[in-house]
Amino acid sequence: MKTLVIITHPNFEQSVVNKRWTEELQGLADVTVHNLHAAYPTEEIDVEREHQLMLEHDRIVLQFPFYWYSSPPLLKKWQDHVLTYGWAIGSEGNKLHGKELMFAVSTGAPKENYHAEGSNKYTVEELLRPLEATGNLIGTLVLPPFIQYGMMGISEEELEISAREYAKAVLA
Ligand SMILES: Cc1cc2nc3c(=O)[nH]c(=O)nc-3n(C[C@H](O)[C@H](O)[C@H](O)COP(=O)(O)O)c2cc1C
Repeated sequence: MKTLVIITHPNFEQSVVNKRWTEELQGLADVTVHNLHAAYPTEEIDVEREHQLMLEHDRIVLQFPFYWYSSPPLLKKWQDHVLTYGWAIGSEGNKLHGKELMFAVSTGAPKENYHAEGSNKYTVEELLRPLEATGNLIGTLVLPPFIQYGMMGISEEELEISAREYAKAVLA
């Protein structure tokens, strides 16, 4: 099983969670770490390269911090440009069929905010539904997301546990 982890973080240098997660993945056998902002500093995505990378892997992980209950904008641009008709969708667009897709998300707010009675009203799983629906449309098997809540109050120890659990989930 070869896994491609696509990271989108507009401010990676200042990141705590996504940076630590990424460090944990570096050097793991059969895991390719692909940081979109590092690969495309001008945000001009090389669609051919993205297609090739995905073809070479069986599982694709989209890793990002939650921004306005969604992904940072470069990941939306990546979807718009890379999941093309005739390649990922449409009657002949079957290149991703059968691959696994997973979302790895860090949030600022704690878990208790993310439910029907909490301040955010919805769970993160519910808010990820557009991405899940996209995964269904492109014929991937969408795996349960890996979520790190409440980054604002995270301790060093919790961060280490999170990084180890994340690596386990990516390899599972
Ligand atoms: C523009 C922006 C929007 C954000 N929107 C949300 C949000 O909708 N929900 C939330 O829980 N946190 C939100 N946050 C907080 C980030 O999700 C949080 O800082 C990040 O997940 C921490 O990961 P990092 O240490 O890798 O940066 C937002 C942060 C920024 C800068």
